[in-house]
Amino acid sequence: MKGGRFITIEGGEGAGKSTQAGRLARSLERRGVPSTVTREPGGTVEAERIRALLLGPGASRWEPETEVLLYFAGRVENLTKTVKPALADGRTVICDRFADSTLAYQGYGAGAPLELIRSIGEAALGGFQPDLTLILDLDPETGLERTRTRSAFQDRYERQLLDFHRRVRNGFLEIAASEPSRCAVIDAARDEDRVAEEVLAAVLRRLDEASG
Ligand code: TMP
Repeated sequence: MKGGRFITIEGGEGAGKSTQAGRLARSLERRGVPSTVTREPGGTVEAERIRALLLGPGASRWEPETEVLLYFAGRVENLTKTVKPALADGRTVICDRFADSTLAYQGYGAGAPLELIRSIGEAALGGFQPDLTLILDLDPETGLERTRTRSAFQDRYERQLLDFHRRVRNGFLEIAASEPSRCAVIDAARDEDRVAEEVLAAVLRRLDEASG
């Protein structure tokens, strides 16, 4: 597999995205593919400050549309300062959440109009899209339970109603169904090693197909 690909990992709370992002990067490195991991909101000093506004202790209650703008503001920073330079260096970039999270959480979950999110995304990112998106799919009850045992601290999304998280999950699955050539859905209910194997297999399969 050649380097310089942009892979995003998406999914609900407790699906294991961050763990899988790190494992995927190490597996690719072992195969000689230089890899960089970043996350959203975050990925640069500036975007981490936006993350704190959205998710930190004492975060304000933003309108869903305001959140959309803040998430895309951080995304422009991450894309410009972290993702694009790494891709230009021939590195594969693995991003823990990206624009599909805004559609799923602020759109399907919180009710901001999907068309508004898509047009803000288009204006902010100029049509920039991941080469591959892995959606770690998990029943929200299991996911929220996992995050409770992981840490006493829960950001405010994790405290929201289960219904919200069900809409988010459904949103991710609708996105995957509407863009099957970009997205692969991975069953995240299985143990970490099995999920890691499937993540790597999906990456090698899809990106080899794309290059070949
Ligand atoms: P994480 O650290 O588990 O990825 O969580 C970040 C939180 O931010 C998670 O609850 C989802 C939320 N989020 C959105 O609501 N919209 C977005 O666009 C992104 C990137 C994250």
